[in-house]
Amino acid sequence: MYKDWDFDKVIDRSGTASMKWEPSVLSAIFGKGKENLLPLWVADMDFECPTAVRKAMEKRLEHQIYGYSLIDPVYFKALISWYRRRHQWEIDENWISTTPGIVPAINYIVQRFSNPGDKVIIQTPVYYPFAKAINNNGRQILENPLQIEGDHYKMNFVDLEKKAKDPRAKMVILCSPHNPVGRVWTKDELEQFGEICIKNNILIISDEIHCDLIMPGFKHICFPTISEEFAQNSITGIAASKTFNLAGLQQSSIIIPNANIKRELTSQIENLGFANSIGGTLFGAIAAAAAYNEAEAWLDDLIDYLNDNFIYLKTTLESQLPGVKVYDLQGTYLVWVDFSKLELNSQRMVQVLEEDARIALDHGDWFGKNGTGFERFNIACPRAILEKAVESVISSIKKAI
Ligand SMILES: Cc1ncc(COP(=O)(O)O)c(C=O)c1O
Repeated sequence: MYKDWDFDKVIDRSGTASMKWEPSVLSAIFGKGKENLLPLWVADMDFECPTAVRKAMEKRLEHQIYGYSLIDPVYFKALISWYRRRHQWEIDENWISTTPGIVPAINYIVQRFSNPGDKVIIQTPVYYPFAKAINNNGRQILENPLQIEGDHYKMNFVDLEKKAKDPRAKMVILCSPHNPVGRVWTKDELEQFGEICIKNNILIISDEIHCDLIMPGFKHICFPTISEEFAQNSITGIAASKTFNLAGLQQSSIIIPNANIKRELTSQIENLGFANSIGGTLFGAIAAAAAYNEAEAWLDDLIDYLNDNFIYLKTTLESQLPGVKVYDLQGTYLVWVDFSKLELNSQRMVQVLEEDARIALDHGDWFGKNGTGFERFNIACPRAILEKAVESVISSIKKAI
């Protein structure tokens, strides 16, 4: 196979206003003096996106008129074909509602389908903008904490059932695959989860933004494909943005098979005043379509590269730092690591990682109280960067304990 990509290539991202690398962002998030940490935090990859994506945007760029635009129909066709091919999900074009991001969509869904004071269930530790969307909109978080079993996390259905019965519980935000614990939920788990929610009239928001980043041996099941009942009671968020590293282009979609829910959300989107009510962007749609249509081989190769990075991280950290546990990576490129058994409390651990190892990671407690003592490593970077980070973590911790 001819490859015009090289995931080993280290690319200088300085001066590109990259949120992950920008010194002003690093110091705002991690504190003064942390401007130059090596960033393995926010979920963004240090790889060039597929060439086909750049070419498609260049072609449109040459036209030199970038006025109000519709979402190019090629986007819908490409998305439908991708989900049919990769996920055996037959999406009807009428179900698609474009959005400049899944996070904004979660916020306007919460606004539309719950009232202030209502409760929204999340499965902690989980992607922290879920909690923010609930709190910032005056709703209450109802935690259904995940449970640890051996090398992986599982859902607690007994607790879910209890929480779902709360009369103020209105919706649940499912993270599938799960960021940060790296789980790809099985059909069986999703069935149990969905049945409990539907029985208790809980609307399911299924955030499947990581659904294409599945490690060898695992299979992602799109929630609405399980049954017509699941499809009618859920809203699913998808995007090419994580898969192909296009997050700056602000193009995502929510899939809503239930026509009443779709109608209500469309009016909510109009209320928010998105341009032409399209909720996406000219270049974002073109880029995503090109990726879906032309970059499947790039993605397959990426997954192998990420899996090799994961094996390197797990074997190196666990052999060099006894007591450290690296959880299985079934999906996403975000690895969940437990440092809590080391003789360092979590505050000291953060200090060692940032002030001595000089790396920026998402700290476990950002994802919920039960994440304390854990760190999330973003391994979507050239191996040389990952090696540099892992080596400094090991030598700094060895010095500190
Ligand atoms: C689970 C999850 N949902 C959503 C997002 C971000 O979505 P968007 O950029 O489309 O708002 C991320 C980014 O890391 C994520 O991990």
